[in-house]
Amino acid sequence: MAKEMGAAVKRDIKDIARLLLNAESVVFFTGAGVSKESGIPTFREAQTGLWAKYDPEQLATPDAFEENPQLVWQWYDHRRQQLANIKPNLGHQVIAELEKLVPKVVVITQNVDGLHQQAGSKEVLELHGSLISHHCYENQHPAGEIKPGLADPPKCHCGSYIRPSVVWFDEELPPAVFDLAEKEIKKASVLFVVGTSSLVQPAASLPLLAKHMGVTIVEVNPDETPLSGVADFALRGPSAEILPRVLDGLKDLRRN
Ligand code: OAD
Repeated sequence: MAKEMGAAVKRDIKDIARLLLNAESVVFFTGAGVSKESGIPTFREAQTGLWAKYDPEQLATPDAFEENPQLVWQWYDHRRQQLANIKPNLGHQVIAELEKLVPKVVVITQNVDGLHQQAGSKEVLELHGSLISHHCYENQHPAGEIKPGLADPPKCHCGSYIRPSVVWFDEELPPAVFDLAEKEIKKASVLFVVGTSSLVQPAASLPLLAKHMGVTIVEVNPDETPLSGVADFALRGPSAEILPRVLDGLKDLRRN
């Protein structure tokens, strides 16, 4: 059963629902926490985070792939295979459902799991790429369908290894996607920052741009982050619990 909401949280949710009622464009900026209730580990949480168990230097950089393509390939292939049994949770579902209630909803995500799209969100900007698609390492030729479970990275017709289309550390974010994300942030009526530690640049600069533009920021996270101090509202708790309450708040207002 959902935990009792404190009076302050209830008040905040009512205020946020009022903002949504009049919003033209709502942007969700999401990170690993939004997928946690689906069973995907985050990166930086002590003990359970992926970077607590694995070294990003050995798995998530171009140098790592050049040094040990098989190891890097297998790690991402394993993560992709895990997705086969994973479904969007209530957090993803609420974000998708809001599209029926608000003129425009845009999702800007750092996640590579495709769960926002699976939940039905139509406009999803993947800042860090996707685990599901692939391209070649040397020439960025797009690769067709790659069957899971290959022990070695396959080769492109140009001879280069195929790699997952995720963004690694030391790589640039896809410029067109980042530009569009900036545009959407600037036009937003409300920005929800959900399930991210707000530590990884340049992604983490986007909520600060929103602040600069006077956009109202709602943080949804069980823990404080470096963004908490600048957010207008900080809803503490798992997104799969908090976001349904926000949606209910909006539905209540629309009924009255
Ligand atoms: P992090 O692991 O850094 O942060 C996850 C955040 O989710 C933390 O602030 C948690 O408090 C919060 N959290 C935990 N459980 C939650 C829940 N149930 N609901 C909501 N929030 C919850 O993950 P990201 O911020 O996404 O990049 O990390 C950013 C980037 O760093 C990733 O895209 C990845 C990583 O290295 C690359 O691989 C390029």
